[in-house]
Amino acid sequence: MRILALESSCDESAAAVLDSEQGLLAHELFSQVELHRIYGGVVPELASRDHVQKLLPLVRSALKKAGTEPLALSGVAYTAGPGLIGALLTGAALARSLAYAWGIPAIGVHHLEGHLLAPLLENDPPPFPHVALLVSGGHTMLIEVQAIGRYEILGETRDDAAGEAFDKTAKLLGLPYPGGPELARMADAATGGAFTFPRPMLDRPGLEFSFSGLKTSVLHSVRAAPVPMTDGFKSDVAHAVQEAIVETLVAKSLRALEQTGLDALVVSGGVSANRTLRARLAEIVSRRGGRVYYPRIEFCTDNAAMIAVAGLARLSAGQHDGLPIKARAQWPLESLPQLSSTI
Ligand SMILES: Nc1ncnc2c1ncn2[C@@H]1O[C@H](COP(=O)(O)OP(=O)(O)OP(=O)(O)O)[C@@H](O)[C@H]1O
Ligand SMILES: [Mg+2]
Repeated sequence: MRILALESSCDESAAAVLDSEQGLLAHELFSQVELHRIYGGVVPELASRDHVQKLLPLVRSALKKAGTEPLALSGVAYTAGPGLIGALLTGAALARSLAYAWGIPAIGVHHLEGHLLAPLLENDPPPFPHVALLVSGGHTMLIEVQAIGRYEILGETRDDAAGEAFDKTAKLLGLPYPGGPELARMADAATGGAFTFPRPMLDRPGLEFSFSGLKTSVLHSVRAAPVPMTDGFKSDVAHAVQEAIVETLVAKSLRALEQTGLDALVVSGGVSANRTLRARLAEIVSRRGGRVYYPRIEFCTDNAAMIAVAGLARLSAGQHDGLPIKARAQWPLESLPQLSSTI
């Protein structure tokens, strides 16, 4: 089977071609970061309009790089949600139309299933079952992944996602959008110890997270800061924010491994690009005889290759959507149809 996949749930337009035998043949991506930077965040209407312009050229380019004619495709996968509804609709309408024109099935993919399965694109993929820590701009979840398509949510955030906490505290420090990677860069320039921020819910049992209090703590520090804020001050705060988030994620991940009795941990989603998180998890999990698996850095954030993996799994299992265009701003992972464990 060979499929084309599209991603357009937020501010990345992407297209990829994946073959069940030959692997990933092409993946193309355009990031809208420059378009949204002056607004300090994603402007949904601008995102949708830009997807309309960029998606089709990306599809052409991916097919060309993969050396694939539409006739060789078995289906078209696209991100159907969760995400910005206008942005989702652009990809969904294009994917559904191409599939109709080419006479092949279309499948609306759950964006988080894409993030969860991104590490399968690596040469050394994770074994099943495993625990997944999904840390992105909109989600923070611990999931027991029994097999492709069989997910049990062990815990999630009650308020802000980890990526959101990185982004919002970065904004308070006046760092440019997108704040997460910028805050991580500043954090690495500090020695630490100047500030300590709370690690919410660490002292309680369970696998839930809460990150919304972090921005209030940072706000108090920023109000007491020298004017204008010095780079040294920003680095010290960034370091303390990163420590609070990383320590919380590491502790809860270990707890999830202990609770399930599993050894393999997958970390995916945009925040899994964070080097301190990767290093800390790798060290602590290997100390207890386990192993951590990540997507390569470019597949941590949004991309179409991961949507192709999830789409291929579901198409191979005989799932597809018929003629309706599927786009859902909210789409709980729990409501995804289960796949048999043999896929
Ligand atoms: N090196 C890094 N350190 C910390 N955070 C990072 C890093 N790189 C990216 N991020 C964060 O990752 C997030 C983006 O990830 P991703 O693209 O997976 O999220 P999203 O698609 O917006 O959300 P979702 O997948 O939940 O819909 C942003 O919040 C960004 O700040
Ligand atoms: Mg994402």
